[in-house]
Amino acid sequence: VTSTDVRAGFAPGHLVRLPRAAAPEIAPCPPRPRGPLTEALISALRGPTGPLRLPLARGSDPVRDDDEACALYLCFELTYRGLAGVDDRWEHEPSLIGFRRHLEDRLAEAIRSSVPAIDWDGSVVTGIRAALAADDSPSVSAYLEQAGTIRDFCEFAIHRSAYQLKEADPHTWAIPRLSGTAKAAMVKIQSEEYGDGVASEMHATLFADTMRELGLDATYGAYLERIPGSTLSGVNVISMFGLNRRWRGALAGHLVGFEMTSVGPNARYARAARRLGLSEPAVRFFDVHVDADEEHQVVAEERLAVGLATAEPQLAADIVFGAQALCAVEGAFSTQVTSAWSQGRSSLLR
Ligand SMILES: [Fe+2]
Ligand SMILES: [Fe+2]
Repeated sequence: VTSTDVRAGFAPGHLVRLPRAAAPEIAPCPPRPRGPLTEALISALRGPTGPLRLPLARGSDPVRDDDEACALYLCFELTYRGLAGVDDRWEHEPSLIGFRRHLEDRLAEAIRSSVPAIDWDGSVVTGIRAALAADDSPSVSAYLEQAGTIRDFCEFAIHRSAYQLKEADPHTWAIPRLSGTAKAAMVKIQSEEYGDGVASEMHATLFADTMRELGLDATYGAYLERIPGSTLSGVNVISMFGLNRRWRGALAGHLVGFEMTSVGPNARYARAARRLGLSEPAVRFFDVHVDADEEHQVVAEERLAVGLATAEPQLAADIVFGAQALCAVEGAFSTQVTSAWSQGRSSLLR
């Protein structure tokens, strides 16, 4: 068993436990470059702030391109916890914002051109339900429940750590951009995602507990190097919607889609975890979501989606697009992961 195996949680029988982290580092280290975009970006970020010249992205699939998705993820990370050894002033460096916008536009366009056409009558409830019903991508939760191994489950947790260790943060950007019923609904949901004021109950904290029970490193950003573009794009799309006021409708629609597709999958993850003999503290994250999202899905649909569409009817199509974008990026993730597992391969980058 090498130190890399232990870090990745692949020790035999997952019995080797990492010590509980004392104080997690706030800012993750930049990963090793994956290609020309991350090479140029990371090398620039290590230096003083100032105008930078970065190559344009030229790949044909911004959602799945490991280099492109990681470059965008790093740009966004500057607005969350920052990056170790990187000057915080890079966050608002105009040339970096320009690069980020170039990658955002490519991601949005790729998603826009990939989502299936849906029939809806102009009501956001019909539109979101049609978007979710049109999703025919494979189910990671069903795979794990039926056939997943402990290694698959650890990999699943590593993929999800890119979002779950900052769970709820990207959607929180919406709060100052909303008003009335939609704002109140968003705050109610987000408050519960943040543990209603109890740090140990924050969903991100519960996910870190699950990772530690699996023998994984729960430090924020610890596995960034292992996480492929198709997974990072799932986080990038929420950050993009969250950091651009013009995408506030899509951000709300994404959260509504999230909440409306949570109960079933989380119940399956919980059953998978119990079948694999994981401890109750490891399963708690999933059980809590089954309970919380029974209510959140109703608040999200009836008050967030309808409330926003009533206050700003011109956003209805964007709200529905948010749910479609969720399905598109989750589909890229689930297809990549389940096809690797079903062929006996790791779904993570080497
Ligand atoms: Fe949650
Ligand atoms: Fe929720």
